[in-house]
Amino acid sequence: MEKDLQAIVEGAASRLKTVSSRPDWESLKATVLGPKGSLTQIAKGIGQLPQEDRPVLGQLINKTKGELEGIFKSSLIQIEEKQNLEALGEKIDPTLPPPSNFTGGTHPLTNSRRKIVSIFRKIGFTVAEATEGETEWFCFDALNTPDDHPARDAQDTLFLNEEASWNNITRKNEEAYLLRTHTSSVQIRTLFREKPPIRIIAPGRCFRRDTVDATHSANFHQTEGLFIDKQVTIKDLKGVLDFFLKELFGNKVETRLRPSFFPFTEPSFEVDLRAPNIGKLSDRWIEIMGCGMVDPKVLELVELDPLEWSGYAFGIGIERITMLLHGIDDIRHFYNNDLRFLNQFNHGS
Ligand code: DAH
Repeated sequence: MEKDLQAIVEGAASRLKTVSSRPDWESLKATVLGPKGSLTQIAKGIGQLPQEDRPVLGQLINKTKGELEGIFKSSLIQIEEKQNLEALGEKIDPTLPPPSNFTGGTHPLTNSRRKIVSIFRKIGFTVAEATEGETEWFCFDALNTPDDHPARDAQDTLFLNEEASWNNITRKNEEAYLLRTHTSSVQIRTLFREKPPIRIIAPGRCFRRDTVDATHSANFHQTEGLFIDKQVTIKDLKGVLDFFLKELFGNKVETRLRPSFFPFTEPSFEVDLRAPNIGKLSDRWIEIMGCGMVDPKVLELVELDPLEWSGYAFGIGIERITMLLHGIDDIRHFYNNDLRFLNQFNHGS
């Protein structure tokens, strides 16, 4: 009998070595300790033995049961540990250096905005801001943009519902609210608030009803510039823009003003630039920004006498500048939050 019990223990121990899951462990346990298990069968046979042999055998069976339970328990712990480790993957060595020491960085558009602001600061410009929500009057009328101008169409601009109200954004009349389509409206907000001479740049987010593709985004960034003083000339405008573009693209950059049209400047120009160091676009004229002399109608509207005051304005696309600086050919990269793209602009920061 003792031998039989010993055989059960040894058999269970050796079969347990091949068990690797809880269900297999449960069924093996049932074959030994379950109601029909081998040990249970022996225990049931005790009744047929002579009275005097029963206590010794009973003790032996109990001891064997305890031993078996111990073996099964420790085997279950091992099985579960192994399964947990498998689920957790490779063992971690906490003494290794971290896989990446990237601690976050600034967005390339933020970098460009800061660069642009710091260049204009050197020559006396300060930063002006206004809200991204605007009104139709400030965005268009005050900038001499007539009612039938395409920019005012609901196809091009994101207007708010008529019932919308925006308490922190002052309106001229009862005009509609909209998401500003350019930062030029900051010109007007500033001119109402401050007396000339004025020298501001106004970086910020703008919105248009554009279909997104490699060069269009419904949400983008501009920096407006405005200079109002006495006897300001196109030469002043050209001088400041040359300085700005040289600071940004290097001394080899050439610039030219090409006649154009904007409702709020007269005359108006596109600024073209030619530089030897802008990748595929090197050494050819490319359009970079709009500018012009502030239209007398805009000055009159903010109650400045155009015979006394004059000025220039310009609008810079921050995405456009950043794409040129880094040879980026798709505007959508800026908004996808892909770290493989973003990390390229934060070396050493
Ligand atoms: N607001 C114009 C735009 O979004 C850019 C611009 C052009 C601004 C000429 C100016 C300017 O101040 O003088 O396309």
